[in-house]
Amino acid sequence: MFEILKNKGRIEGIAKVTGKAKYSAEYALPNLAHGVIVGSTIPSGFITNINIEEAKQVPGVIDVLSYWNKPEVSTFDNPEKSKKIPAFHKYFHTTKINYSDQPVALVLADTLEDASYAATLLKIDYKTEDFNVNFHESLKDLELKPFKAERGNLEAWQNADYISENEYTIAMEVHNPMEMHATIAHWTAENKLSLYDKSQGVNGVQWNLGRFFDLPEENITVNSEFVGGGFGSGLMTWFNTVAASLGAKLIERPVKVGLTRPQMFTMVGYRPTSWQKVKIGANKDEKLLGVLHHAAHNQSKYNVYSRDLSGITSKVYAFENVKRFTGYSPLNLPIPTWMRGPGDSSGTFAVESAIDELCYKMNADPVDIRLNNIAPYSMDSGKPWSTHYLNECLERGAKEIGWDDRPNQPKQLKDGDWYTGYGVGVGLWNASRRNAGASIEMKRDGNIIVRTAMTDIGTGTGQAIVNMTHEFLGIPREKISIELGNSIHPKSVTQGGSWGLSSLSGAVDAASTALKRKLADYAWGKSEVTKLDAVILSDSGVAFINDQKKSVSYQDIFQKYNLNEIYVEEYSNAGGEEEKYAFCSSAAHFYKVKVNVVTGKVKMDRMVIVVDGGKIINPQAAANQIIGAAVGGVGMAMREKQEVDLASGRLIGSDFAGYHVTVNADVPIIEVSFINKPDYNRNPAGAKGLGEVGLLGSAPAITNAIYNAIGKRFTNLPVTPDMIV
Ligand code: MOS
Repeated sequence: MFEILKNKGRIEGIAKVTGKAKYSAEYALPNLAHGVIVGSTIPSGFITNINIEEAKQVPGVIDVLSYWNKPEVSTFDNPEKSKKIPAFHKYFHTTKINYSDQPVALVLADTLEDASYAATLLKIDYKTEDFNVNFHESLKDLELKPFKAERGNLEAWQNADYISENEYTIAMEVHNPMEMHATIAHWTAENKLSLYDKSQGVNGVQWNLGRFFDLPEENITVNSEFVGGGFGSGLMTWFNTVAASLGAKLIERPVKVGLTRPQMFTMVGYRPTSWQKVKIGANKDEKLLGVLHHAAHNQSKYNVYSRDLSGITSKVYAFENVKRFTGYSPLNLPIPTWMRGPGDSSGTFAVESAIDELCYKMNADPVDIRLNNIAPYSMDSGKPWSTHYLNECLERGAKEIGWDDRPNQPKQLKDGDWYTGYGVGVGLWNASRRNAGASIEMKRDGNIIVRTAMTDIGTGTGQAIVNMTHEFLGIPREKISIELGNSIHPKSVTQGGSWGLSSLSGAVDAASTALKRKLADYAWGKSEVTKLDAVILSDSGVAFINDQKKSVSYQDIFQKYNLNEIYVEEYSNAGGEEEKYAFCSSAAHFYKVKVNVVTGKVKMDRMVIVVDGGKIINPQAAANQIIGAAVGGVGMAMREKQEVDLASGRLIGSDFAGYHVTVNADVPIIEVSFINKPDYNRNPAGAKGLGEVGLLGSAPAITNAIYNAIGKRFTNLPVTPDMIV
């Protein structure tokens, strides 16, 4: 059983399901204190006083960290350095409040219970100011700016045979990974900080904390060995990490700060509320002519995140005329951040809906129109796609779902109160690649350990490393172990943006080549072997692929050169390939829904998703990525909506009782398949990242299917049962 898992599933699977794998909050350190963050109750103004007397009476309470006793941070004495620290890392260094639940204090105690209770006893005085949390209201005064690069012109298609124009909104969505954010901060020496931190990238945390405390990066170590999901919530270094580090400094003890589920809604980002207006035109021959896309989303007053929602519009289809306007509304709300398919999944909902609407107007087939209008090359850059198989995704998906059974007019398939409909939506994401590092250590018995700082946030990166190393070297999988998610290992980019595996494959390939080089030199003499491709490693030694007789055992090599281990470390980055090619991954989502017009219930009947993610390195983990993302798409379309109370500026129902996520019972067996054709221009593994494309195109496939079922076009997400009836 374990063998099967080790080969195909997840190398960390057993550790995770048996509880052996430790998440950041689970490390036990001697003398560990617990910190509980207290957030503001007003959305705008100033804290004028915090009375801690009552809280300090609670047995076990050590101190309360706030503006009034924060440790000195030398960085802030230097205006140049201070300027570079993001304002949201300085919450204990200001009295200004810009949103409700902005951290204002950290209660420190011997136990979590004591700290949590004492946190309820703080008496905080505020001076309140006017606030604005109303995104849709704010649009009235928001000036959208034209995007600098555009194609063709607007006039060229205003008299197109067919035009569709609509406005689209998507509610605020919150990531809510299973593992809640937590940090343990431990000052191991006056200027040395050690952190266990839930994060998608340890080097990013290291850099941010180094900058905050004005310390060299090597003085800070960050461990995120196991991460229970992220979806983007772990890309930034959030305040819990800063607070734990300051708390540990203040009381000279290691401090653990874990967020509560409600704090997960205000302290680690979310997908901002968005508004879009999309107008598209096509001619009688079903050629898409032009698109005009206006888009905006909310920001926080602490402005650290903006994402052009219309960015995707010029990429997927061969619109000769593209004009985009974009804008951002800074409000008294928590800080939004990247969330699965950031920006593009919002933009995709609008564009894929608009195309569907156009198809009904012109009596065109939604699959045909897409097939006939896929951008034949990257029209943004003018470069050819390295590989791009969206057409095959569409063709296969249509066949799998039985697209021919789809009526081309709504309300045709009826069974009592239930109406059946079919919808399609496509997603596309830049298959990017960034810097990554990996090392390999080989022992005398031929066992190797591959190490990298990159995290595995649940995506299967760890098993992918094993599979790639096995493929590059030939060493059997059971002799390969991994260590990752720790800043003591070779530096790598943060995992996100669907670039993790793609980036890492370059480093693993380079380290594998370096190991082969060393072994070949030891075995047959320095640089005797010029073609390393001809060399393969087995469980016992190094050999030529076509001449096993020349094999030399690891035992002999280690003996002869008196070695304890062989160590190689390599780094890689995207190379010249980006000069020549444009890269993308893509997916086609084909969904069949049943809609009950009396109860408003929408049942996902079938979900067929075909993905071009280059070569698939680990089929189970890859399918799992797509399934998880598509479930998120169902949530975006029909459930997830974080409400803001306009009167108080606070979030409403921000927990799992009030905020509804899609679960297994809400979806059918999701049918995922892969084109599985390698793209070796991208990286040595031939893989293209596929974390995001499972979500992109998912929500519009649902609303398009609902339209096909009942003839109602929904442009505001989520679509809840009351809207259906
Ligand atoms: Mo993601 S939003 O690429 O973690």
